[in-house]
Amino acid sequence: MASIKRCYSIEDLRQVAKKRLPHGIFEYIDRGTEDGVALSGNRAAFERLRLNTRFMVDLRDRDMGTEILGKRIELPIGIAPTAVAGLMWYQGEYALAKAAADAGIPFTLATGSLTPMEKIAEAGGRLWFQLYMWEEKELSYELVRRAKSLGFETLVVTIDSALGRLREHNEKNGFTFPFKPNARALVDMTLNPGWLTRVLFKTIIKSGMPKNANYPEHYQPMVTLRGTPKPKANKGMTWEDVARLKEMWDGPMLVKSVMTPVDARMAVQHGADGVVVSNHGGRAVDSALATIEALPGVVDEVGSETTVILDSGIRRGSDIVKALALGADMVLLGRATLYGIAAGGQPGADKAIQILSTELEKTMASTGCRRPSEITQDVIATPPF
Ligand code: GLV
Repeated sequence: MASIKRCYSIEDLRQVAKKRLPHGIFEYIDRGTEDGVALSGNRAAFERLRLNTRFMVDLRDRDMGTEILGKRIELPIGIAPTAVAGLMWYQGEYALAKAAADAGIPFTLATGSLTPMEKIAEAGGRLWFQLYMWEEKELSYELVRRAKSLGFETLVVTIDSALGRLREHNEKNGFTFPFKPNARALVDMTLNPGWLTRVLFKTIIKSGMPKNANYPEHYQPMVTLRGTPKPKANKGMTWEDVARLKEMWDGPMLVKSVMTPVDARMAVQHGADGVVVSNHGGRAVDSALATIEALPGVVDEVGSETTVILDSGIRRGSDIVKALALGADMVLLGRATLYGIAAGGQPGADKAIQILSTELEKTMASTGCRRPSEITQDVIATPPF
């Protein structure tokens, strides 16, 4: 697609996504929560960190791959769970999963995704499954068993969302789930005939109104149909539930949204094989620390015994170098690849991964690192510069 070819950065893909999506849907993925403080804080914290360059290292023998949870991945990158990928592109989650499989990196399917997990399993590659735990625990267990039987290898349990979050812009734009269209949303969609045909009508023709395709049947039309019962988040979830999930999953389990050493320790004590330092891309708690600021504390606490992954705010390869330098084993991409599929389906996601991979490789080279294991704290410059 011509417009993707002219994208040289994640920001370029974001701009194309902005043109190709209804305004309210673009804002749904692009913005944070409340005042957007955590969202901009993630970027500001990455930008405050500077790197020590180191040249004149023999760079002929380079390898961008690394081992995560006992298996090699081709880049220290994975795709984060993002539920509305299916509104960026027809079966957007499948496009993301294929892009990940082609790049040799993991893809995480979100509980709320719009594409059935059976379809995602066809993409192959390393598939992870993200879980929001419901009040009716047995329904969550069923979902977990289904993911297991389809070959999803890692369970990612998100812990930050028991009471939901406040995103006023979605209310104003009329893009909430269930969908409550207001005049603004209707105008917004009418102004986007391309999106209507490429995404919405195509979905409707092929598989009916967009729905939470992996929810139990009576909850599925939640995305579009007002009045459909909504599965309640589990407000009573505690670490005992995490331990129970680990027992039933019988495979690698990550706990996502760990922002403090205390939660990191609790996660490990309750069976986690790794933690994801995440503030949900600035979409959950607006006064949260930036993840790159929270990372060192978590790494000090559990980094020597478990896998530590970081997400939220990765827009450049240098951000990945900074995360690895401060102790992360890999990072996850949420918006970067979502912008990609919104801009042009799988080729757009391929492009996002390729942009970040090239930037990562060049930044690693400029800091004298030939492989992820060589990225250590020494590459971070200490102020005053
Ligand atoms: C869901 O997890 C979201 O961030 O919208």
